[in-house]
Amino acid sequence: MVWKTKLTELLAIEYPIIQGGLAYLAYADLAAAVSNAGALGQITAMSLEGPEALRNQIRRVRELTDKPFGVNFAIGQHGRPYEQMVEVAIEESVPVLSVTGGNPKGVIDMVKGHEIKTLVLVAAKRQAQKAEELGADAVIVVGQEGGGHLGRADTGTMVLTPQVVDSVSVPVVASGGIVDGRGLMAALALGAEGVEMGTRFIATKECVDAHPVYKQAILNADEHATVVIKRSLGTPGRALRNEWTDQILALESKEVGYDGLKSYISGQANRNYIHNGKIAEGFGWAGQGVASITSIPSVQELMDGIIQEAEAIKNKWK
Ligand SMILES: Cc1cc2nc3c(=O)[nH]c(=O)nc-3n(C[C@H](O)[C@H](O)[C@H](O)COP(=O)(O)O)c2cc1C
Repeated sequence: MVWKTKLTELLAIEYPIIQGGLAYLAYADLAAAVSNAGALGQITAMSLEGPEALRNQIRRVRELTDKPFGVNFAIGQHGRPYEQMVEVAIEESVPVLSVTGGNPKGVIDMVKGHEIKTLVLVAAKRQAQKAEELGADAVIVVGQEGGGHLGRADTGTMVLTPQVVDSVSVPVVASGGIVDGRGLMAALALGAEGVEMGTRFIATKECVDAHPVYKQAILNADEHATVVIKRSLGTPGRALRNEWTDQILALESKEVGYDGLKSYISGQANRNYIHNGKIAEGFGWAGQGVASITSIPSVQELMDGIIQEAEAIKNKWK
């Protein structure tokens, strides 16, 4: 069966599925595996050391696949300038670039005139309209269920997706809480042209940088297993609940501010958990969809399962 949506046409991919940026986890091997399986894999630029590391990652993806792939820029994070990194993505003619975490204008302006499709992550109708005005080729809606950084307004994917679909004319991609073929079909029913998944790709064989302890925590998790931290800083993000996040929430309730929180929410604390499996010394981002993740397949097996499940749903309603 042929899957054809505005997103598959725009990005020249087989299935309307994007692997979201995953800080410290989405490198060339995962991105290439996702693209080889017919979806869009992405490298996460801003958790790499610098422009040359990004160039190496892009070249490595090209060694592993001839399919389209993307580079994700979380421009608000790490307080680092992104221009040189975007320059590398342009020099290397990457097919797709996605932007989150700040005003996307700088990145979109740099990319204008090049054969690069731009995707902007949004968590509100107004942001989606702004992204379209600036020239984004598609917007990715980030609902409250999602893993990692979120919008401030706590709006869920089910509500946000149709709102955004009705307010822009570029293709809309739904994300937040989607982990299977049911989620894909639900998103399409809401008017999305595809989905982005983050958490689901962590629990795959090719996500080699995720420690087995992190993957196991995802498998063990139920629908109450995640919490939103960093809300007091205006940058909420969803993580697996553990003693470390309980401590963060306790500190936030005391209004300690950034200085009081910084060692708890640092990249190092994140890596302690996700790379080293030290669950008492850090945190790992994850979305509410963890509740439905029960296996660690290869990316190809994951994609086959999602597509089979989605097609069974389609056939049910024929
Ligand atoms: C561990 C982790 C790290 C993330 N890092 C980034 C990032 O660097 N850039 C980005 O755009 N989104 C990031 N996200 C968000 C995802 O790309 C995606 O939008 C989100 O995971 C969708 O929700 P889901 O986890 O329910 O699928 C991250 C999510 C997770 C779980």
